[in-house]
Amino acid sequence: MSNTTNNIMRHGEQQRITLTLNGRERSGHCEPRELLSDFIRHGLGATGTHVGCEHGVCGACTVHVDGVAARSCLMLAVQADGRRIDTVEGLAPEQTLGDLQQAFARHHALQCGFCTAGILMSCADYLQRVPDPSEEQVREMLSGHICRCTGYTPIVAAVLDVAARRQAEAGAKEAEHA
Ligand code: FES
Ligand code: FES
Repeated sequence: MSNTTNNIMRHGEQQRITLTLNGRERSGHCEPRELLSDFIRHGLGATGTHVGCEHGVCGACTVHVDGVAARSCLMLAVQADGRRIDTVEGLAPEQTLGDLQQAFARHHALQCGFCTAGILMSCADYLQRVPDPSEEQVREMLSGHICRCTGYTPIVAAVLDVAARRQAEAGAKEAEHA
């Protein structure tokens, strides 16, 4: 029998994987066909990540994979083996909301909240790369997400607010050290 045949897994067979979830090493078993979104929720109990369309359209399942926003419904759990995965839970590690989450609350940028975890994760990644975006850029970034409640305007306002506050803080720190 060839090696290729030997390596074929049987239906229902589980594979152990280990990843770093929000800074903590976590392990679990999954089937080779299991989606990362399902593994995060059901295998690791991190249910902050939501699942909507399961085919990459709505953005609800967005997490960070090695620091970059990605749809967890478009990845297999086994592909996350050995990688760093960050979810919305990681934005409030000490049960204290981060600045992005606080801005969403201030601007009423969520209603039912189903889309919110994914949007927050996309915004967190985006603001690292584009710290001072225009409204148009924020709207373009949000076009990868579906929110059926807010009409997007308060979300845009929250993101621009965070960007402006971060810019002001960075400016103040620079002035301090000048
Ligand atoms: S559930 Fe992943 S994009 Fe909709
Ligand atoms: S707040 Fe309900 S879908 Fe966005």
